[in-house]
Amino acid sequence: MSRFQNVRLEHASRLINHGPTVLVTSAHGGHRNIMAAAWSMPVEFTPPRLAIVIDKRTFTRELIHASGYFGVCIPGAALADLTYAVGSVSGREIDKFARFGIASQAGSLTGVPLLEHGCAAWMECRLIPEPHTEQAYDTCFAEVLSAAADARIFDNGRWSVREDNAELHTLHHLGAGRFATASKTTHARPA
Ligand SMILES: Cc1cc2nc3c(=O)[nH]c(=O)nc-3n(C[C@H](O)[C@H](O)[C@H](O)COP(=O)(O)O)c2cc1C
Repeated sequence: MSRFQNVRLEHASRLINHGPTVLVTSAHGGHRNIMAAAWSMPVEFTPPRLAIVIDKRTFTRELIHASGYFGVCIPGAALADLTYAVGSVSGREIDKFARFGIASQAGSLTGVPLLEHGCAAWMECRLIPEPHTEQAYDTCFAEVLSAAADARIFDNGRWSVREDNAELHTLHHLGAGRFATASKTTHARPA
């Protein structure tokens, strides 16, 4: 049974505000794909928009430009190996879903593959066409159309990082396959 529940769009920016490494999913013309991306950030409030660096040479980028959509899934600590693996080989060579036994469901708005098992959250995104930016840079801009999160770690618009949900703690890439996990919070006192 899915523990995912809808995240209100006004709270979507909080899913990546703390800089987790994400899994970018895409699909077009009978192909599906998934890659790791450490570089993403929220950029606008309403509608929620994000910026994400997706190398122009990736298969992901090709599928996103063809379909106009992509998914952003936020893996938990238990998916560190998988995250590194899908970021180390191109979908031009293999079907990474089959190769790594990745279960996914098609997003109801966009049809992109969405992962829940082992993930803390996902977002369905629409690429914002920016011909000049797309030609010149690896950065893509997108609008978040829908979002959902595992209520054990993100509920009512807030992350709740605890000892009992360690497998869902987000991954933060340090380089060369080493990740820090977001495993402790500090609450600033009001001034
Ligand atoms: C932890 C990790 C983080 C990565 N972050 C990014 C990133 O932010 N942007 C990017 O373009 N590639 C990033 N990569 C590299 C892509 O995931 C990699 O090029 C991938 O093989 C592309 O797959 P594709 O050709 O199937 O789309 C990262 C790789 C790893 C392992």
